[in-house]
Amino acid sequence: MNDSKQENLSSEEQPWTIQRLLDWTTEHFGKRDPDNPRLRAEVLLAEALRCERIELYTRFDTIPPADSLDTFRDWVKRHARGEPVAYIVGSKEFYSLRFRVDPHVLIPRPETEHVIIEALESAKAMPRSPLNIVDMGTGSGCIAITLAKHLSQSSIWGVDVSPDALGVARDNAETHALGDAVQWMESDLFERFPDDLRFDLIVSNPPYIGTSEQGTVDTSVVDFEPHVALFGGVEGMDIIQRLAVAAADRLVEGGVLIFEMSPMIESRCRAVLDKTPGLNCVKTVNDYAGLPRVMVARRTG
Ligand SMILES: C[S@@+](CC[C@H](N)C(=O)[O-])C[C@H]1O[C@@H](n2cnc3c(N)ncnc32)[C@H](O)[C@@H]1O
Repeated sequence: MNDSKQENLSSEEQPWTIQRLLDWTTEHFGKRDPDNPRLRAEVLLAEALRCERIELYTRFDTIPPADSLDTFRDWVKRHARGEPVAYIVGSKEFYSLRFRVDPHVLIPRPETEHVIIEALESAKAMPRSPLNIVDMGTGSGCIAITLAKHLSQSSIWGVDVSPDALGVARDNAETHALGDAVQWMESDLFERFPDDLRFDLIVSNPPYIGTSEQGTVDTSVVDFEPHVALFGGVEGMDIIQRLAVAAADRLVEGGVLIFEMSPMIESRCRAVLDKTPGLNCVKTVNDYAGLPRVMVARRTG
């Protein structure tokens, strides 16, 4: 149909081209959550059409086939009810790698890339090789797998208390052809590790939301992501406190603990590090929004 004929059609008669689908869905998503509605619409439509996002832009006038359209409409309804896009499409990109996710694991967040950046910097400065590295609370395995990709000489463990999360992490390691570069361990912190095993680097994105703040957390998080991955006791400090004490024991001298936290508990995290014998807080790292997000501490003699 030529342009002048299309202009004469009422909005109900306009064909549902890729462009029209994206425009309508962007506006629909934006009413509930103004954060990047266009991106979320594009991710869902590209996945429904089994193409790359960039290809949508070369096919703006195309009308998708009916089965893809049905899938897309179903996904739009699910997301509009709060279900995260990453669970709907089953994957999320982190540090330029794609990870499978399902509701047993936290969806990797961009903020957590700062844990990777700090870990790679610390690893580079360490005189020993190979390094022993543990990712405590590995979830999808995004931290352990990304480090294994960049530090191929290291021995890396990915630990989680959730066997279902470890299943997802193992799948991701297989997808990324890592063989047995990461050893997966079901354990409550270091409980199942041999007493004499020590680490050069302990990295973690622990559960750090306080149950007291549950009411302030977006329902798309609280209603869909695993609570064992989100909540760290009443103030969010339970796992961080235990992790700091364990790290003082499990790090070699000069070894480094790097963990993510919420900006709201920065001073409490500092206080925990200050009163843990053998650990010195080295720095706090700000996230992309300029908020304190990652703590780095060193094991002193
Ligand atoms: C915030 S998620 C982080 C997941 C992943 N590392 C990431 O950054 O996307 C925290 C993870 O810690 C795990 N976890 C909670 N308590 C734990 C414990 N006591 N010992 C080991 N893992 C634990 C949860 O199952 C969850 O997978």
